Amino acid sequence: MLRIEGLEAGYGRAQVLHDVSLEVPMGALTTVLGPNGAGKSTLLRAISGAIKVRAGRIEFKGAQLNGLQPHEIVRHGVAHVPEGRQIFPDLTVQENLRLGTIAAKLPSSRPEVEAFIYDTFPRVKERLHQPAGTMSGGEQQMLAFSRALMADPQVLLLDEPSMGLAPILVEQMLEVVRKLVKERNLTVLLVEQNTRLAMNLADSVYVLENGAIAFSGSREQAQASSVIQDLYLGGSGHAQ
Ligand SMILES: Nc1ncnc2c1ncn2[C@@H]1O[C@H](COP(=O)(O)OP(=O)(O)OP(=O)(O)O)[C@@H](O)[C@H]1O
Ligand SMILES: [Mg+2]
Repeated sequence: MLRIEGLEAGYGRAQVLHDVSLEVPMGALTTVLGPNGAGKSTLLRAISGAIKVRAGRIEFKGAQLNGLQPHEIVRHGVAHVPEGRQIFPDLTVQENLRLGTIAAKLPSSRPEVEAFIYDTFPRVKERLHQPAGTMSGGEQQMLAFSRALMADPQVLLLDEPSMGLAPILVEQMLEVVRKLVKERNLTVLLVEQNTRLAMNLADSVYVLENGAIAFSGSREQAQASSVIQDLYLGGSGHAQ
């Protein structure tokens, strides 16, 4: 279990997250919903060590993660696919992939993991020797996802993995997420604009508003919640 308790984080003088607590059970998919600017990306950045935590505790399998460097957090098995890809455009696709393990001083990936990545994202395999910046936006998204998988993580923090993808690819991307959880037993904390799709996949749902948790519950509770219906699903009827 990844356990977050009383988390406070922000940028400069601006505090974004206020007393945020959540539990991310192993082998399950937990989704964080919320309007633009609610602090969803900030939450994932705080967990992955990209920004400093001001107060609270992040604990994974008994180890305290807050205060550790990002590469140490990857070594603990927690990998982050940040918002907006953040690949290195001048490095080749293969070099970008290797950064996933080199930065964390992990051994280069197991062949089985690489085979899974290439099987999942054949486009990444086809482009291995090409500068990453020459890939299309959607391909770069797949590369960022693949780079996180190279570290063979137990927990994936996914920040809008479907951003900028065509509708058909959005569904494919979320199907990859589903497979990682159901077939490879990964633990996923997913932030996604496609609220309905994310809720259909999720075992549990949190809603972040103005940097604080406004709702938490199972998928069924979330789907029955009038707050979520009204705010995120257009209000009419029940989500499927
Ligand atoms: N690097 C930064 N420096 C200063 N403020 C920031 C920075 N990044 C984010 N913020 C602010 O923190 C708040 C939360 O931003 P965050 O990116 O976490 O929101 P979000 O929920 O991910 O939104 P979105 O759905 O638009 O991605 C916003 O008010 C934003 O302007
Ligand atoms: Mg965001």
